[in-house]
Amino acid sequence: MATFAGTPTLNDQRGDMRHRDNSMIRSETYSRPAQLATEDVPKPALSSIISVHDFEDVARQSFSEKAFAFYSSAATDLVSHNADLMCQRKLLLRPKVLRNVKDVTTKRSILGSDSSAPFFFSPAAMATLAHEEGELAVARACGNEGIIQMVSSNASYPLADIVHAGKPGQPFFLQLYVNSDRSKTEDLLLSAEKLGIKAILLTVDAPVPGKREADERIAAGNVSAAISGAVATNDKRGGGLGRGMGKYIDSTLCWEDLAWIKRVSGLPLVLKGIQTASDARKAVKFGAEGILLSNHGGRSLDTTQPAMMTLLELHKCAPEVFAHLEVYVDGGFTRGTDILKAIALGATAVGIGRPWLYALTYGQEGVEHLCDILKDELIISMKLSGITDVDEAHPGMVNTAGLEPLVRDGEDHPWIRWQPKARL
Ligand SMILES: Cc1cc2nc3c(=O)[nH]c(=O)nc-3n(C[C@H](O)[C@H](O)[C@H](O)COP(=O)(O)O)c2cc1C
Repeated sequence: MATFAGTPTLNDQRGDMRHRDNSMIRSETYSRPAQLATEDVPKPALSSIISVHDFEDVARQSFSEKAFAFYSSAATDLVSHNADLMCQRKLLLRPKVLRNVKDVTTKRSILGSDSSAPFFFSPAAMATLAHEEGELAVARACGNEGIIQMVSSNASYPLADIVHAGKPGQPFFLQLYVNSDRSKTEDLLLSAEKLGIKAILLTVDAPVPGKREADERIAAGNVSAAISGAVATNDKRGGGLGRGMGKYIDSTLCWEDLAWIKRVSGLPLVLKGIQTASDARKAVKFGAEGILLSNHGGRSLDTTQPAMMTLLELHKCAPEVFAHLEVYVDGGFTRGTDILKAIALGATAVGIGRPWLYALTYGQEGVEHLCDILKDELIISMKLSGITDVDEAHPGMVNTAGLEPLVRDGEDHPWIRWQPKARL
């Protein structure tokens, strides 16, 4: 076990960390098709669910094996996914006592849209695998809870249906994968603007899908995404839904294309998947209004660093970016304390991914319950830390020493001077 005094590593804090996923070579595929949401499976009463982890346990039992593999899986050896979770535990809170903490507010403005708490739902594909009402149920829950839903380009329902399921004026962001047929992306952007979408969240860390073996090992079944029109199929590499549905993504996309997306949509642009301080600087230069620091929940390039480390890297190497755009983080956020630490370290808001998919096994009510759990944990954490408003959270509240030796302080390697002949 690492000690807090010793040189930290990210993967040694819990004995049960998986060094690869639990999937194994099997010749058969499953009889329960991936498309089937699992209304029929008995579940514990929602009132007995008191943490994000409880939702995951129920989802593991109640989803089809394919759905759970798709949602829970991460790339190759799960290093980044485990690191996301570990990272939160390396950051320690430093509470102040004897303050009047009776009344607390968790409200935040996220790119000008009101949110009842400093978290939002990160985009995730194919919510009907969890519940037949999928993203519609999430939209209703977000409307009731005052939370922003980031709708995936690979959502199960059409964008208009999702927006109309919400309340009038309810804020939504649209996550974008640019289609190799760019006219399709232009059509989507124009419809997003007409539907009152508040911002475009362009995913930049997945020009190709990551290799998620648990997902690959189970046949894809008949799954298609409504917004992108993508259909997943099986081939010699496996049955990965993520890979199958990502085939339309334009891997030629580059910085110069951002102006086109901004011009066509007329909407603020957030880049999702920024992982270095130098790319954060570029995001400012190319006119992004926000960046979501993310390693895609460990699902894209394995062994990338967690967003919280990138957040620290930004403070160290490119502190000026915080003055120019909003900074969000996601990956491995399961507790109110995790959210509080990110806000204290300068994030405007935190993205929640897998937990909302797991909560969706209970439909709209489950997603509302998840919001309540996270808000409740955040409020308790704020009160126990001695603050009453999220705007009061500041870096001094967090002991970051457990991560500091791992945070890079520049673009170049600190001491290797060798350079390749060609360098971008
Ligand atoms: C099942 C699943 C599907 C996802 N689909 C998308 C997607 O369509 N677009 C995208 O940008 N990110 C996608 N993500 C990544 C999430 O937006 C987010 O970055 C990640 O889930 C955060 O990590 P967490 O699950 O540990 O909270 C997906 C994640 C999961 C788990």
